[in-house]
Amino acid sequence: MMPDLTVTIGQLVLKNPVMPASGCFGYGEEYAAFYDLSQLGAIVVKGTTVEPRLGNAPVRIAETAAGILNAIGLQNPGVVAAKDRIRQLARYGTPVIVNVAGNSSSDYQRVIEILEDEPTVAAYEINISCPNVKQGGLAFGTDPEVVAELINKLRSATHRTLIVKLSPNVTDIVAVAQAAESAGADALSLINTLVGMAIDAEKRRPVLANLTGGLSGPAVKPVALRMVWQVTEAVQIPVIGMGGISCAEDAVEFLLAGASAVAIGTANFVNPTVCPEVIAGLSEYLKRHQLRSVQELIGLAKAAGKN
Ligand SMILES: Cc1cc2nc3c(=O)[nH]c(=O)nc-3n(C[C@H](O)[C@H](O)[C@H](O)COP(=O)(O)O)c2cc1C
Repeated sequence: MMPDLTVTIGQLVLKNPVMPASGCFGYGEEYAAFYDLSQLGAIVVKGTTVEPRLGNAPVRIAETAAGILNAIGLQNPGVVAAKDRIRQLARYGTPVIVNVAGNSSSDYQRVIEILEDEPTVAAYEINISCPNVKQGGLAFGTDPEVVAELINKLRSATHRTLIVKLSPNVTDIVAVAQAAESAGADALSLINTLVGMAIDAEKRRPVLANLTGGLSGPAVKPVALRMVWQVTEAVQIPVIGMGGISCAEDAVEFLLAGASAVAIGTANFVNPTVCPEVIAGLSEYLKRHQLRSVQELIGLAKAAGKN
């Protein structure tokens, strides 16, 4: 018998718990050349702002040991153009989650307002955690009170599933998670990238034009796992775990830590078919361990952690 991979995130029933992470999958067009996107549990699109953004000046990506630093700066075509591209994803019949970003709470509200009449959008992922923009972004994600105020406003702007994406660049991620939950978030996603830096020894200057960038990829996985563990101990709403997932075993670790679903970012750049491979690998794992449903895995490591 095929194991049941179904999970629930807010109002979304996902046929499996695997989705690409925002900003690493564009609007899916490039990846559609590699596989049928309808296999995905959900599709998460790039951070979307009211106006088009060119992003930061190059150099915007630097390779590091076991990861990359990026300082894209939320390049996107703006919500009106993005809406057309999002509509194209309806053909895959899998939930589309739109990552929403802005410099002020009214920016976030405006993006949602414009997307509310687009039936292809199943949920919003509120990016309060982008480390690469000068205003907004991270400033929203570090203060629990500011997070609560923003999410309260957005909660009254939509009945759709509201996912809040948390920053790891804080002292206490649990406080931010609880603030988002109390303000009406249906789910949380974590982690966004960790602020880092690269310096070119020969040129004797920072590699990134933005000086700092967000670290992602396998290097961040232990930090992400720790935060998923801590947050799922402290909230009732489901968590989408991400940070360095590049194979099914990594995904299983996040589920065991308490995540209800997982997202895969940087690994798509290395292996464009990583998402369907992780879906297949999850099924194999469940069969190998004689588990009938992926839900049996969620938080399973917690019991051992309490010994
Ligand atoms: C090039 C790049 C662009 C990203 N853009 C966004 C974005 O627009 N919105 C967002 O919430 N996260 C963005 N992220 C963060 C990822 O969605 C993810 O949270 C992070 O990279 C950790 O996962 P990973 O290690 O699997 O990449 C971006 C990451 C990368 C590498």
